[in-house]
This record gives sequence, structure tokens and C-alpha cells, in this order.
Amino acid sequence: MNDVLKNNPKNNPKNDLKIGNSSVRLIRGRFLHFLEDPFSKVDSSVDSNLESKSYQYVKHGIMLIVDGFIQEFLDCADPKHQQRIADLNEFKGFKDIPTTHYPSSHLIVPGFIDTHIHYPQTEIIASYGEQLLEWLNKYTFPTESKFADAAYAEQVANFFIEELLRNGTTTAAILGTVHKHSVDAVFAAAQQRKMRVIAGKVLMDRTGFTPDSLYESAAQGYEESKKLIQKWHGKERLSYAVTPRFAITSTEEQLRLSGKLMQEFPGVYMQTHLAENLKEVETVDSLYLRSAGYAGYLDVYDHFGLLGDKSIFAHCVHLREGELERLAASNSVISFCPSSNLFLGSGLFPFQQSVVRMGLGTDVGGGSTFSLLKTMHDAYKTAQLQHKKLSAFGSFYLATLGGARALSLDHLIGNFLPGKEADFVVLNPAVTPLQQFRLDAIKNLELHDELFGMVALGDERSVVATYVMGKNVKHDD
Ligand code: GUN
Ligand code: ZN
Repeated sequence: MNDVLKNNPKNNPKNDLKIGNSSVRLIRGRFLHFLEDPFSKVDSSVDSNLESKSYQYVKHGIMLIVDGFIQEFLDCADPKHQQRIADLNEFKGFKDIPTTHYPSSHLIVPGFIDTHIHYPQTEIIASYGEQLLEWLNKYTFPTESKFADAAYAEQVANFFIEELLRNGTTTAAILGTVHKHSVDAVFAAAQQRKMRVIAGKVLMDRTGFTPDSLYESAAQGYEESKKLIQKWHGKERLSYAVTPRFAITSTEEQLRLSGKLMQEFPGVYMQTHLAENLKEVETVDSLYLRSAGYAGYLDVYDHFGLLGDKSIFAHCVHLREGELERLAASNSVISFCPSSNLFLGSGLFPFQQSVVRMGLGTDVGGGSTFSLLKTMHDAYKTAQLQHKKLSAFGSFYLATLGGARALSLDHLIGNFLPGKEADFVVLNPAVTPLQQFRLDAIKNLELHDELFGMVALGDERSVVATYVMGKNVKHDD
């Protein structure tokens, strides 16, 4: 190996060093990642002891990346690692490996994970004045109709994926439109950048609630979803999610066929909306409960086999008695979308729901930001309005390892354990003069002060670099 290294002087730091057929690079800097759920993440009596055991904070760290995977993650201050570092230095020419050294003012954390986002709604972000059902009819459905044009879908998909990366989001569960090619476009855009994403074609077939321009029959929706699953699910880092929009826009036949797809293709995800808005819940009651004796909104999905460990339910603001327990018992997932819940006036997510596996979702364009940092801020305010505290540790957990667990991807992403895919972001906690001024003013600055500054004041400017499979895709490096 040393010979190879000698023949490859660091004359081109943009490229990884090729050793045999492998490319190798080192990242040095200050790192934070989670190993456990800080589970006091929403509590009025935060147990800082439990919390501090949930993460690993490495002031001088070294990450060795081979072919996009984390090979070693070493703490220079850890006596157990020092020997390893010395060995590597001596025997493998560590010093000759292309290295990016981030300053100690920066913090490297796992890539952010967005558990619920609509890519076709990128352009209607910040649409004024309506609550959910009116907002869907006035802004969302007309915009989604534009995706009948495949070239347009491709253009928006590429912008959308770049916007995720600008904000430090490396993995997302994405909703397309009813148009099959809308999902082809977003998978292709993610695949081109080697990203790990989940995506699915929206299913809508209930006349009276679905505009003609977005209608397709239950049978056609089933067939097209099937083709998309066969084409994309499990290909490289891509996974498919069966995506009935919500109970209001699907007939029972469509929900039945969604459940059938889940059975026919074990391992695919299911994503939908649940109990976001009171008028929505009332409408579901009038459509389903009277006619066929369903016990409630969640029961409608349950009836068709749509609950399970790969099922993501966005919002869950207005759950009824027993529904939370049913989500927990089926190991289903809640995507907590605080920015959207506030922006659309849907309500405050009740935090006792954290007993269910949960991640954060931006829900763009109902949510008014792509930034998981700003989403953490809205989550914090949502907790405050209920006299609860959401610590910055809890928020960063939800946006990283918590999100990975929610999406059943924690064996692949979510922290820096060796073997995982090297998706991470480099944050500058003092990127604005105000943030710098605030940090300078804090005596005995602690890690939580820095993190919370990013929660309350951070946005995409805080994200200095976004790495996907070990490569910086935000800036040239
Ligand atoms: N419920 C059904 N469709 C949607 C949507 O597109 N956005 C949100 N926020 N809720 C929904
Ligand atoms: Zn949504």
C-alpha cells in the first residue's frame, strides 16, 4: 500500500486516492453523532445524564472513508484509538491519504433525514392564507397537475434534490404526483447524486375530492405503482413507498389495492397523511364511518393492511383515543411536521406521541422550509406552547439517527459507526455575525448552547458542506 501511496502524491486534493480499486479519503474535525435515543427529548424534567449517554462528541476525530463507506471513526483523545491511529500512520501512510480538515469551530453531524416531503410542491412553498383542504384545492392540485409534463417534472425534481442537499438533507421520504414519470424523475435525480431516498407515486381515485386532471382509476394506480416498484425498489440506494394521498382522496378499492401491493412486495414502504386537520378528520368520518362502521381514521388504513413497520403517517395531530397505541403496537411511524402544522394552522402535535417511532418531516410545500434546522426550531416552539421542553440533543437525534430508525434505515445511515454509508454534513454554528456574537457572549460555552443556537437561528447557511457517500455534493472540494 505504501508504494501506491508514494506514487500518488496529493497533487489533486479533489479526488479520492485510488488504492487498488478502492477510493480512500480522510475527514478530520469535530464530530457529534447519536448512538441511542436521548428519550428525555421532550420532557419538562430533562435527565441530562441519560441524554449525555445517548451521543458521542469527538473534539478531534478522524473518519476514514473507503468507497463511500465509513471504514474507521477514531477519537484522537481516546487512548484505545491512539494506538490504532499510530499504526495506521506508520503502516498505511495515513498522512498521504487525501484529507479534508475542518476547523474546530465547525461541527460534523450525520446527514439530515426528512421523513415527509412533497417534491412537486416546491414551487408553492409559502402560499398564503388557507388551511389544509382549501390549500389543497387552491394551490396544490393545480400545481400537481402541471406534472403531466414529464420535462417539467424532471426540471423540478433536479431543483428539489439540489435544494435538499443545500439544506444538508441527505435522505428523504418523498411524495410525487399521480403521474408515473414524476416518480421516475425524482428517483433519477437522486440516483444521479447517489442519494438514499424513498419515493412513491401519489394515488387518488375518489371523484368529488380529486380534480379530473389528477384522477386515475384504482386499477391503473395499482398497475403503475407495480411497474414503479419493479423498476426502482431496491435499486442502488432507492426504495419505493406505496402512496395513497389520504383516505379522503382514495376509494376503499384503492386502499385495498394499496394493501395488496404491500403484501405482494414485502419491504416496500407506505406513506400517507393522518389526522392533520380537524375538517379533514370530520370528512373522513362522513365518508367512511357512517357507511361501513369503521372505528376511526386510523382504522380505515388498518382495515386495508396499511399499518406496519414500513408505514409512515405524516402529522397525527388530532389522533383519537386508542389510535396512538395502535400505531405503536403495529410499529408504524409518525412523521412529525411542525413547520407545516403551524403554517397551515393544523394544530400542535401532542408530544406524548413520542412513544411511537418518530422522525421529522418538513412537508414542503405545506411546510415553509426545506431546512431541518428550521424544522427543529418549529418543533421547539410547538413544545413550548405545550409547556414542554425539546432539547437540541432531542432535535438533532430526531433529524439523524431517530429519522434513520423511523425509516428502518439505521443499519445503513444515521450515525458514524463503521460500515455505514458516509452521508454527513459540516455545520458552522457561527455562520452569521449574530450567531458568532451570541456564542462569544456565553461564558463556559457548552455543546448544547452551540446546538441550540443552530436550532433557533440556523438555516441552510449553517450547512458548509453536504457529503453523500463520502463526496461533498454541496461545494467542490
Ligand atoms: N393531506 C393530503 N394531501 C396533503 C398534502 O399534499 N399536504 C399536506 N400537508 N397534507 C395533505
Ligand atoms: Zn404531506
